[in-house]
Amino acid sequence: MPRMQTIKNKSMLRAAIQRWKSVDEIVAYVPTMGNLHEGHLRLVDMARQHASKVVVSIFVNPAQFAAGEDIDSYPRTLEQDSALLAERGADLLFAPDAAEVYDSKPEAQTRVEVPGLSTILCGKSRPTHFVGVTTVVAKLFNIVQPHLAVFGEKDFQQLFLIKKMVKDLDFPIKILGAETVREASGLALSSRNSYLSVAQREHAARLFQSLQQTAARIIEGERDYQKLEENAIKMLENDGIEVEYVSIRRNDDLHLADAGTTELVILAAVKLGKARLIDNIRVDLSGTIKQL
Ligand code: PAJ
Repeated sequence: MPRMQTIKNKSMLRAAIQRWKSVDEIVAYVPTMGNLHEGHLRLVDMARQHASKVVVSIFVNPAQFAAGEDIDSYPRTLEQDSALLAERGADLLFAPDAAEVYDSKPEAQTRVEVPGLSTILCGKSRPTHFVGVTTVVAKLFNIVQPHLAVFGEKDFQQLFLIKKMVKDLDFPIKILGAETVREASGLALSSRNSYLSVAQREHAARLFQSLQQTAARIIEGERDYQKLEENAIKMLENDGIEVEYVSIRRNDDLHLADAGTTELVILAAVKLGKARLIDNIRVDLSGTIKQL
């Protein structure tokens, strides 16, 4: 099997991908910020199922971190990541540095913004975050020009925004969503879990438990969503977890759910120690809980 190539330069990357496309290879792309775990690697598996060539990028994107956030401490483990990707059968790793991606300071760049949806939920406490995400993903899509790209449903709002951006801007790229990979405790895998102590990691499983309990109450027939949100927040706070939001939304457009909504998603963001953690669960009122 050919070894995985690593490229740091965008014109070399374009040339490699052009060569593949000229012989009708199907190119799938998985953008990441590295410090890879099984959640990322499942995206690689899904990419592999739909394509003959799999490109993964590792780029800790400064534009999606606000001042005071964790860009400097964000875990960078390129060598280990590269070994994991090679083992998992990725064909190409694109690992540019910031100067390769941004000619000027991110704030002086043209930006891509999905209106409205960038400033709700996680966008409320991180008002510049999603513009940073959609802008870098648009740039990376133009650099890689894949046939399809895979994102995790763990970052539900991000996946939603990217699907809308692709539709609104006519990117000829199919977007696939992959299920959330969890630890046995239910805690969603995340690069930021490395900020947690062993005890905090156990404690963090309460986040998913609170989502599961809220989902169960909805399935039992409770329709007072504000009360359910408040209960979930209280439960987490009683456990010493700082809650940013718990919100019950419509799955298809992320607007607030009402008693008539049949496909729901419950989203939450909390802080535990140094880590900001997000998670979500889908509720299908035809009777089954779909876990992401
Ligand atoms: P990052 O947090 O590294 O995540 C890269 C991809 O892995 C995202 O699509 C994310 O949803 C997915 N992912 C993370 N944890 C997962 C889990 N437990 N199960 C399944 N998928 C999981 O998301 C980003 O990077 C950045 O915002 C990026 C899109 C790369 C733009 O900079």
